[in-house]
Amino acid sequence: MCGIIGYIGSKDAVPILAQGLKNLEYRGYDSAGIVTIYKGKLATAKCKGRIADLKSLLKKKVLRGNVGLGHTRWATHGVPSVVNAHPHLDCSGKISVVHNGIIENFQDLKENLKKQGCKIKSQTDTEVAAHLISKLYKGNLEAAVRGAVKKIKGSFALGVISSDEPGKIVAARRDSPLVVGLGSGENFIASDVAAILNYTKQVIYLEDNQMAVITKDSVNMLDMRGNKVNKDINTISYRQEDVQKRGFSHFMAKEIHEQPQVLSRIISCCVSRQNTIRFKDFNLDSSFLKKVENIIIIACGTAYHAGLVGKYIMESFLRIPTSVDYGSEFRYRKPVIRKNSLVIAISQSGETADTLAGVREAKKSKVRVLSICNVLGSSLTRESDSVIYTHAGPEISVASTKAYTAQIMTLYFLGLYLANLRNSLSKSYINGAIASLKKVPTKQREILQNSSAIKAIAKKHLHFGAFLYLGRNINFPTALEGALKLKEISYIPAEGYAAGEMKHGPIALIDEYRAVVCIANNSFVFDKMVSNIQETLARKGKIIAIATQGNKQLREYLKEIIFIPPIEEEFSPLLTIIPLQLLAYYIAVLKGYDVDKPRNLAKSVTVE
Ligand code: G6P
Repeated sequence: MCGIIGYIGSKDAVPILAQGLKNLEYRGYDSAGIVTIYKGKLATAKCKGRIADLKSLLKKKVLRGNVGLGHTRWATHGVPSVVNAHPHLDCSGKISVVHNGIIENFQDLKENLKKQGCKIKSQTDTEVAAHLISKLYKGNLEAAVRGAVKKIKGSFALGVISSDEPGKIVAARRDSPLVVGLGSGENFIASDVAAILNYTKQVIYLEDNQMAVITKDSVNMLDMRGNKVNKDINTISYRQEDVQKRGFSHFMAKEIHEQPQVLSRIISCCVSRQNTIRFKDFNLDSSFLKKVENIIIIACGTAYHAGLVGKYIMESFLRIPTSVDYGSEFRYRKPVIRKNSLVIAISQSGETADTLAGVREAKKSKVRVLSICNVLGSSLTRESDSVIYTHAGPEISVASTKAYTAQIMTLYFLGLYLANLRNSLSKSYINGAIASLKKVPTKQREILQNSSAIKAIAKKHLHFGAFLYLGRNINFPTALEGALKLKEISYIPAEGYAAGEMKHGPIALIDEYRAVVCIANNSFVFDKMVSNIQETLARKGKIIAIATQGNKQLREYLKEIIFIPPIEEEFSPLLTIIPLQLLAYYIAVLKGYDVDKPRNLAKSVTVE
């Protein structure tokens, strides 16, 4: 989704802003722009398309100045176009605004502003903010921004500059992430630390209804009444090279291949030398955890699929009912939340608007919220009672891969930890489970080494018009996730289904033009999957099977089989998804698509 960077210092602002926007490309966008202040005047350069297009424009239209804002826009109100791209200006051309989020009452504000003589040029909700600030401006930019945000309904991360006060940037946040980056003789604002990692690792996270006023030498953090607030300075632990491709053609490929390393990191964080499970800074007390009667998992997208695996884990390890909801459904469906419920919110970014809204809905019932999250200091982590970090490192590719297996691995450890506390599993089962999980990274590596065979299968199937993914039991979510990966990046219609439901609908789709991916690893449901395979073959469907090494039976009637190392059924989702991620990746690459930045999608969906 939209990205923001702001710079104030002594250096030329444009290269810094352009680099920041480049680092934000992964979030998904369709237009971009920059504004600077030079010799007391604002100058803007905006374009539709990519940062490369903006850079070409900046060669023709040279912008100077040591203070400025940059923005990548992901269209919500109004088509992608130069006029709708940010930064937006007020009528006097003295105030400029970049904005992430949605101003919900923009129509009312717009009508009012028009009555007051404002000429509104774009179809965006953001432009009204520039005019509103301008109308309230009486020589103090922060007071004008404060006045404007009082009138704004909806979500925002705002960056504002004025040519009348060229030595400052004013930033404000409500429900959309924003950080201040601290430098020496220079300071930054950004919607995401990735934008400023080249320049600083010292950041301050704004919370909802907070503002920042930054100059080149100072940072003032304020509440919306203008009172100073004290904030901690955080040091970002990852490096700039973590957000680079390191020899891979795409971030998605790099992130798929990073999974063994990520899972090893989780194992060393969660398992002590004495082989007990622990979580850093986990602060839900044992007496409460022993009393929990049901678990409610809230998530969106890929994290929702990890949550579905979590349901199988929690119900089988703890024998307590577990429900899984999309944040977007949970927030509106008047859920029944009992007293001794534990809510688990899963999110890579920690900024997904619907997941956050689901958590807020749950908190109205005074239940405790544990988040499983990848991004330190994100909104979700701040709003939860406790957090378990997934340690996956920055995930840049829009299609989530390493965050998914990291979330599942974390759920296994959480399930085992709770089972130990509640005595719902024997010590020997728990020890055996830990031993099995420790072997997963090596087994994932084995699958990854077989990438070329998966690429060959991708080549043979990329022209199929539709894919059906079938899985059973704990690999039903794997089927959903496999289908999601394919449709996200290759735009081929793909559906995931519980194989047992095949006869209740999807079987009608099967013919020789349909590829059917069957997750048929060794398990107690293997024979059931074989029946689904037979039914598909009888209707000429083209099967790609995921099977366990050593399986000879499937060889008798299937040509395309991707083998995975043997693993207990309950831990198999950590392996079965790897070939499906690779299959989707290769199909998209071979079709010539921009895998890391699929059309219409955003990495972090910070609006509803
Ligand atoms: C977007 C991303 C998905 C992600 C989902 C949830 O749709 O494109 O990859 O799974 O949001 O994101 P979260 O950050 O909450 O895990």
